[in-house]
Amino acid sequence: MTGITLIAATASSSLQSESRRICQTRSMTFDSLISLWPAAGVRARARNLELRWVDDELAVELASLAARGIHDPERMPFNFPWTRGSAREVARNVLTYQWRTRQDVGPARLTLEYAVLVDGTVVGVQGASGASWPILRSVETGSWLGREFHGRGIGTRMRAVLLHLLFDGLDAAEVTSTAFEDNRASNAVSLKTGYLLDGTARVVREGVATPQNRYRMTRERWEEVRYVNARLAGGAVALDGVTELRDHLDAPAH
Ligand SMILES: CC(C)(COP(=O)(O)OP(=O)(O)OC[C@H]1O[C@@H](n2cnc3c(N)ncnc32)[C@H](O)[C@@H]1OP(=O)(O)O)[C@@H](O)C(=O)NCCC(=O)NCCS
Repeated sequence: MTGITLIAATASSSLQSESRRICQTRSMTFDSLISLWPAAGVRARARNLELRWVDDELAVELASLAARGIHDPERMPFNFPWTRGSAREVARNVLTYQWRTRQDVGPARLTLEYAVLVDGTVVGVQGASGASWPILRSVETGSWLGREFHGRGIGTRMRAVLLHLLFDGLDAAEVTSTAFEDNRASNAVSLKTGYLLDGTARVVREGVATPQNRYRMTRERWEEVRYVNARLAGGAVALDGVTELRDHLDAPAH
């Protein structure tokens, strides 16, 4: 071996051990994140669709997806109009919302926000949130898809997968949802997945009184529609990390 070859071989082996060390550190950090914060380890899959905890990398991908547009600007599907503003403002709204809600995984408020991936491509968010989980076991679902992914059945599939996670995985007692009357896709998703209409309220949307439908699915209703939802999900739903999250949520406070 010449001197130059020897130097090159030594450099390459120290690079390999450095990259091994970085990988080990990353994997240790991830493992300890999940052990500290079990919600981060939850995954739900049905064939090629996956719900995954929103880490920083996914938050940035979701931010740029949202910045490309979520809905017709003439219509506002959300109570809080976070999709108004420049592309940069919308992208930052995604980041700050995700950062803020990550911590709400506990008895006072349970908020679960999942990035939705189809064939590995980030297409939107499916979430659920509610107060006093150990007592009420009730959450309201909410979701959005990048506009380029609307109307392909993804909204229905991701809701069916989340319902499975909430009822089967976390033992929810009821799940609710709201949709403005003029949001036909969102109303259709709630009805297709089996929620029942639970009244209509007038709420203020961007300064105007607007009818909003409220939907509800009890555990009894879930038992009736779970097989329909199994079909709507597009494949058997596989859950990871849910037992750990359930133990975390149901642990007595100390
Ligand atoms: C709501 C949303 C998540 C639904 O996802 P999606 O993938 O577009 O919906 P799907 O393709 O699964 O369609 C579900 C049903 O809605 C119907 N639908 C979809 N778009 C529609 C439209 N513009 N008008 C009427 N019906 C529509 C579909 O026909 C389908 O019913 P069908 O299968 O019986 O035909 C998505 O449209 C979205 O992100 N919209 C903007 C944000 C939003 O409204 N979020 C919800 C706030 S409450």
